Amino acid sequence: MTPPPDTNLINVDDWSRETWEAILARARRLRSGAAPRRPRKTSGLVLFFAEPSTRTRLSFERAALRLGVVPSQLDTTGSSLAKNESLADTGATLEALGHVLVVLRHTRPGAARDLIASTRGLLHVVSAGEGQTTHPTQAALDLLTIIDHVRSFPEITVALFGDLAHSRVARSTVTLLRRFGVRDIRLAPGPFPLSNDDYPGVTRTTADEAAVGAHVLIALRLQRERWDASPPVFDGYLETHGLTTRRLSMARADAIVLHPGPLNRGIEIADDVADGPRSRILTQVENGVWVRLAILERFLA
Ligand code: CP
Repeated sequence: MTPPPDTNLINVDDWSRETWEAILARARRLRSGAAPRRPRKTSGLVLFFAEPSTRTRLSFERAALRLGVVPSQLDTTGSSLAKNESLADTGATLEALGHVLVVLRHTRPGAARDLIASTRGLLHVVSAGEGQTTHPTQAALDLLTIIDHVRSFPEITVALFGDLAHSRVARSTVTLLRRFGVRDIRLAPGPFPLSNDDYPGVTRTTADEAAVGAHVLIALRLQRERWDASPPVFDGYLETHGLTTRRLSMARADAIVLHPGPLNRGIEIADDVADGPRSRILTQVENGVWVRLAILERFLA
């Protein structure tokens, strides 16, 4: 696989369908035991998490270690961002120090572009989630999980439930599913209004209607940290808008359940659904390591 010297991974659309297919194929081979390619440099990777994370951060770290790369770690409070250094100056500094790739999580849309705005093309950036706009590696691991577990892909129905308005995961995953030819995608946004610009051309409906006959049901976390104010309806949220056993029973008998995590149990997803036989939530977590390893390999090998 040829490294993409002039590209970054900030949005799903930064890479072609063919590139994503190559990433998924490589992730499967790595998962089956293929040895990672030797990296050109065993240093030069920074995991820069300016927002909390468990699975994305640790799966990138585990992927890097499998590649033989020991990543440097940076966050907001422990860096000179706490002393008002700009992201552009931070990026130029990381490049001058010899780093070649930053995996960046940030609360603000546009942060990844800002980080490389003053660099000389030697430093690349992979988004690990940015504001409510983009989370491309999560989309890739979702897609891998779906393709591996749903036989009729892409002729499938995918239903997404919950806080779609504030979800970078949903935006990225819906974009990638559409890129791969999935046409029947149903959004059940509950009490969180979507603007006309959100998810253009994708069906919006109630949670019950979304669930009927679905092959894949994706529950989304209530992303309170991105709310300007409390939504209008909250009592009974799980029963009305979330993923319950009753709602799962309306889907296909072989339907699978996804959730990007972290879970708000009893709020957007019932315990018996999250832990039940149809759940692929921990498979998503496992796939995250292989997808991210394939992506790091592409940049560093
Ligand atoms: N899905 C996801 O991004 O989880 P973390 O916030 O734990 O990384």
